[in-house]
Amino acid sequence: PAIAAFAATVVQWQLRAGRRGLPWQHTRDPYRIWLSEIMLQQTQVGTVMGYYERFLARFPTVQDLAAATQDEVMPYWAGLGYYARARNLHRCAQEICQNWNGSFPPSADEIMQLPGIGRSTAAAIAAFAYGQRSPIMDGNVKRVFTRYFGIFGDPSVRATEKCLWETAQAVVDAAPPDLDMTAYTQGLMDLGSSHCARGRPDCAACPLATHCYARLESRQAELPTPKKK
Ligand code: ADE
Repeated sequence: PAIAAFAATVVQWQLRAGRRGLPWQHTRDPYRIWLSEIMLQQTQVGTVMGYYERFLARFPTVQDLAAATQDEVMPYWAGLGYYARARNLHRCAQEICQNWNGSFPPSADEIMQLPGIGRSTAAAIAAFAYGQRSPIMDGNVKRVFTRYFGIFGDPSVRATEKCLWETAQAVVDAAPPDLDMTAYTQGLMDLGSSHCARGRPDCAACPLATHCYARLESRQAELPTPKKK
């Protein structure tokens, strides 16, 4: 029952209460979605908006980005920090133009072969751009899963991480074929960064509370399991 209810509950909540109307939520262009996901990795939504628009005005397609030099790209990243992101972005664009004929790779497995793109970011891009049923598992989503399913163990340890990915896959597999992957993926990110916060989660307002292990057992403070010192 806990697993069957999960995805549908997240989707309903996202459509009702999640973040909507952000610029990258109005497109299925993988280039734009990719750019937004890379910018959002270490930067808040409010800061990303302006950078996102200026970057796309200067580099509207992956071809434009690939044709530029790195020196032409960096000013559009200045102030965002984590500059390796911009260098990888530029490298990705060139790889996409050379190896993929300028069209973005068609699945999460192929997207994650590109420089600087991890499994979760690749899955998010594939879910938003293609509706692919590829589960994400970033820091915020780990919090939701460890608590809801009662998954103990430091999530950065291999065995725990494996369990988290398998659970995320099982949720998607258990969901109906018409699952809205865009709403599901965005909803997980938004729940993880709002109600299911690290310090004091707001379980009273959380749509997943009725079946949440941590909530039912009052173990929110123990999950996710902290790193061993
Ligand atoms: N962080 C990473 N991806 C995000 C997204 N799509 N929306 C909000 N925050 C994010």
